[in-house]
Amino acid sequence: MILKMNDKFVKPFIADHEYENIQPMVNVADRMLREQNGPGNDYLGWMTLPSDYDKEEFARIKDAAAKIQKNCDVFIVLGIGGSYLGSRAVIEFLKSQRYNVLKKDTPDIYFSGCNISPADMNELLELCEGKDVSINVISKSGTTTEPAVAFRVFRNLLEEKYGVDGARDHIFITTDRSRGTLKQFADQAGYETFVVPDDVGGRFSVLTAVGLLPIAVAGISIDELMQGADAARGDYINPSLAKNDCYRYAVTRIILYRKGKSTEILVNYENYATMFNEWWKQLYGESEGKDNRGIYPSSVIFSTDLHSLGQYIQEGRRNLFETVVTVNEGGSSLLIPDDPHNIDGLNFLSGMDLDYVNKTAMQGTLFAHMDGGVPNIVLELKDRTAFSLGYLIYFFELSCAMSGYLLGVNPFNQPGVESYKKNMFALLGKPGYEDRRAALEARM
Ligand code: PA5
Repeated sequence: MILKMNDKFVKPFIADHEYENIQPMVNVADRMLREQNGPGNDYLGWMTLPSDYDKEEFARIKDAAAKIQKNCDVFIVLGIGGSYLGSRAVIEFLKSQRYNVLKKDTPDIYFSGCNISPADMNELLELCEGKDVSINVISKSGTTTEPAVAFRVFRNLLEEKYGVDGARDHIFITTDRSRGTLKQFADQAGYETFVVPDDVGGRFSVLTAVGLLPIAVAGISIDELMQGADAARGDYINPSLAKNDCYRYAVTRIILYRKGKSTEILVNYENYATMFNEWWKQLYGESEGKDNRGIYPSSVIFSTDLHSLGQYIQEGRRNLFETVVTVNEGGSSLLIPDDPHNIDGLNFLSGMDLDYVNKTAMQGTLFAHMDGGVPNIVLELKDRTAFSLGYLIYFFELSCAMSGYLLGVNPFNQPGVESYKKNMFALLGKPGYEDRRAALEARM
């Protein structure tokens, strides 16, 4: 079994009949997803993606990754939201948060165009001095300001380094098949392009070229990632909550939400999961947070955050529940050394594996938080491989869609993301936004 939901630490908060009561709603939502007749039904391509993907493009992704690995020291991904979080999450989860400083035969990978910070961009430009650089600009809409501005900056850098013709070998574009400024620009300039399928939204796009090209550049098997996702697709076909942990997770969240548990904290005990937590937050936050409802997604890395947010979780406002992701097999092993003098009094730990101590911290925390009134859903992942991670990604995508439908929202749109953009354009003087600018200025 690749993934198991352990509900021991949530059982005191939910009775069995509550799952039985909601099963008919799950059946309806499952049919809406499979028959593609629910809200946002134009964006369900991710459901069949793990087996039904463009094999020709998949091969081109591998070729481009090999070329990038050969031609450059530094590879920069320019994208924001769903256009970078997935690839960064996978690279860090399977390699390390410190991927760039590891001994390796693949390029350093940086992410830019995911903020508007001049300090961040200047630092990265400096890092590129004297290095061979390639970039992958990723934007489904092709119009998002952050990556578009970063593209201007890094295109200048590459054209200065290699000339306009030479730069072409160092620029890769991932965008819509036919629409958008970026696609037009790429076609005119002759850059190699990859496609974000029409029916896959940004936060569901990690298993398209959006995520796969950077992941392949990092030397991770994208075949195994897809195979893992496909295995999850097959395992979660039956909507029965007795047989489907993915839907059971979705339903558990919704039952807890209806009992006033409006904040979910995703918990991991390994630093390598930090960006995975960020990917998950976008997936759930953008999918559910609308129409004045939705579970607020947050995250922690324990035991680090037990010494910052731990107090609040144990004794603060009781509107929380936690979802703990733990990896069962193949943890990194480090034995705690013995000290003949035992000055620190820690010899009871001598010879113990740090992985065991970490897992014991988790057990202790699960009991403490449950006793403190915080339900804990535990998701046990078999191991830290591309296959299992692909499985986990699909698990969260499908459960997110189910949760959204059970909440009664359209999980596949993000109308709220537009508001800040319109205000920013107006205040920066973009043509066409004059009235909005005047209205904003009047309120300042
Ligand atoms: O999930 C989404 O659709 C968004 O978060 C987008 O990924 C994000 O806004 C970036 O958009 P784009 O890829 O069009 O530049």
